Amino acid sequence: MSKTLIVANWKMNPKSFKDAAKLFEMVEKNVKLSKDAEVVVCPPFLWLRELRSKKLSLGAQNCHFQMSGAFTGEVSSLMLTDAKVEYVILGHSERRQMGETDAQINLKVKTALKDGLKPILCIGEKEDEEINLVLERQITQALEKITASQLEQVAIAYEPVWAIGTGKACSADNALSATLFIRRILTKLYSRFLAEKTPILYGGSVSSENCAQYLDRSGMNGLLVGGASLDADQFVKIINTVSKR
Ligand code: 13P
Repeated sequence: MSKTLIVANWKMNPKSFKDAAKLFEMVEKNVKLSKDAEVVVCPPFLWLRELRSKKLSLGAQNCHFQMSGAFTGEVSSLMLTDAKVEYVILGHSERRQMGETDAQINLKVKTALKDGLKPILCIGEKEDEEINLVLERQITQALEKITASQLEQVAIAYEPVWAIGTGKACSADNALSATLFIRRILTKLYSRFLAEKTPILYGGSVSSENCAQYLDRSGMNGLLVGGASLDADQFVKIINTVSKR
């Protein structure tokens, strides 16, 4: 089984580089990482070149699907690998909310893989949506024409939209159903072997109190943490809790 992956999505936070550097340093100093766990910090683009660590990996929160050109305000996956960034979050619901489509996410996954980035593909239903329909559509479209060997570089983050930033985390049982369903789709698209191998992360109101259940009872392989990753003590507690498992 792959390593437990604990990913911090800082979103558009904190407010200054000084605060970002302090947060990063506090996490790095206090985290006790087992060899079976990997921590990925995803700050805003601006600070990716400035935050360096031997213990923590780096990820971006998005990238464009073209290599270069007239795309004002965008950053390419090639620029990210050039900056020694390893991971990229793609298809986050906050970006889908801004108009990103499944087809665009598919292009981004393809380009990111081609340029050597490891995509963390976010999927998840809104409160009034039929979960299985949404997950199947989002996975199938995002992974269109992604080969089996490319899939080995992809992690899938299940983030129910209603659980993001609301304090209403998904129950362990519901997260388990989502994990099983995601693995069923991956089995249909690839193979049982690859479906079992693909890391599945949970995201949405993760805290140091609720984090253990997703690894112990929901069959997940890691976490995608938003708000709690902006508090060094909380995030370190989460890492130390789940990386012992
Ligand atoms: P919260 O942990 O703040 O709910 O955010 C989750 C998220 O969107 C991570 O990508």
